[in-house]
Amino acid sequence: MKIRFADARPAGDYALVLPAAGNNRPGIQSLGEGKAAVEAALKRSRFEGDSGSVVESFLDGHDGRRLLVIGTGADVKASDAAEKLGGTAVARLLTSGEGHAVIDLTGLDYDADAAARVALGGALRSWRYDRYRTRLKDKQKPTLTSITIVGGGDGAQKRYDDRYAAVAEGVSLTRELVTEPANIIYPESFVERVAESIKGSGLEMQVLGRDEMAKLGMGALLGVAQGSVREPKLLVLKWNGGTAGDTPVAFIGKGVTFDTGGISIKPAQGMEGMKWDMGGAGAVAGAMKTLALRKAKANVVGVCGLVENMPDGNAQRPGDVVTTMSGQTVEVINTDAEGRLVLGDAVTWTQKNFKPKIMIDLATLTGAMVITLGHEHAGIFSNDDKLAADLIKAADESGDKLWRQPLGEAYDRLIDSPIADMKNVGPREAGSITAAQFIQRFVDDGVAWAHLDIAGMAWSDKAKATYDKGATGYGVRLLDQYIADTVEG
Ligand code: BES
Ligand code: MN
Ligand code: ZN
Repeated sequence: MKIRFADARPAGDYALVLPAAGNNRPGIQSLGEGKAAVEAALKRSRFEGDSGSVVESFLDGHDGRRLLVIGTGADVKASDAAEKLGGTAVARLLTSGEGHAVIDLTGLDYDADAAARVALGGALRSWRYDRYRTRLKDKQKPTLTSITIVGGGDGAQKRYDDRYAAVAEGVSLTRELVTEPANIIYPESFVERVAESIKGSGLEMQVLGRDEMAKLGMGALLGVAQGSVREPKLLVLKWNGGTAGDTPVAFIGKGVTFDTGGISIKPAQGMEGMKWDMGGAGAVAGAMKTLALRKAKANVVGVCGLVENMPDGNAQRPGDVVTTMSGQTVEVINTDAEGRLVLGDAVTWTQKNFKPKIMIDLATLTGAMVITLGHEHAGIFSNDDKLAADLIKAADESGDKLWRQPLGEAYDRLIDSPIADMKNVGPREAGSITAAQFIQRFVDDGVAWAHLDIAGMAWSDKAKATYDKGATGYGVRLLDQYIADTVEG
């Protein structure tokens, strides 16, 4: 999507978008002779300016120009109002036949950042992945290729170019990785796809294969990969935009490119969704790309634990005991609780190699998290109140929402094993918490750590203002905002 900012509505052909904040409708006053008809249309549609509501009409005396009046809700400055506006406009216009949209913010009193976020919402909502649709009818093909935002004031273009264009790129990479099926994206091809996508960005990349991980003793991660013909990989992305010598913030992502459950196999119903069990790794890759593209003044490392969880004759069995890189042993009660096994070793490797003071992992870790929070918030578990508060603030600002969950000794005891140091599942109750406790057993003393269980957020069965059905790109904006606020801020 081509994004431009202008002081006044341009000449030429376009669809005009006018926001209405509650009953405050500044743009409509400017319509001259068309005004009365539009006001009648709003009245007949019982339009009250609710957030996301849309009335479409065609302007008399303006060559039948298409007009969308879009409600922003009364709180036009709400943190997500600007993006919703841009996203709603693009959702309506993407395949409408219109090639150009003008969103006129005049009168809304938006600053440069808010105007840039209108553009971001539009850019995010325009993303789609048509690679495998060979029979699209003309009417299904996108037509909208450019958006002009009017009335955002000075600096909006720069704000967009310096910050949000990079965010849109990172989110797009994440969505692509998450959307691709598991016969296309598996550990090795995940690495290749990321490598291709970050070319020229200045990100450094390092990749460990099976033999290297075996030498390092990563028995938990390798145990998960054991039943698959796909070689596991540890992908490391480094961005050194901060002060030389500062220890990096570490992001760690669960990258199970397909999760059958292994020998503890999942039911057939809905199993196809487990192609997106690499959503944590996808978010880490996307966030690293965003930080590099916008040249963030921060040192950050992103580590993706990439495996496929399959049940073949060589697969690990329930009851197997594996030795992790940390030296701790794990009794694998359920091969479907594989994400924590991958993350445990990834956490140890990251601490050994980078000595981070702050470590944030993202994982589509438990179905229980979806039962708890649905699709509105990801869960955050943390051993550090400041880190949790900083992340929740970034979540509120970015729209990638978080809700804090508890940790504690009593939960931790639930994963003690009679034969090994721990088992990989607890009882059915508090399943997301015991999963987090498992990961915490690999976190070194003194490291501020947060685990984000994004199982309910990586994929959406419903279209929303800034994404269509499918991959959401959850996590990219959150991590980007967190770095902007804390390391750079
Ligand atoms: N990848 C799944 C969790 C998941 C489920 C994510 C549904 C998104 C939607 C994870 O590997 C898993 O299978 N977890 C098990 C853990 C259980 C065996 C303790 C679960 O949640 O059922
Ligand atoms: Mn699983
Ligand atoms: Zn999984």
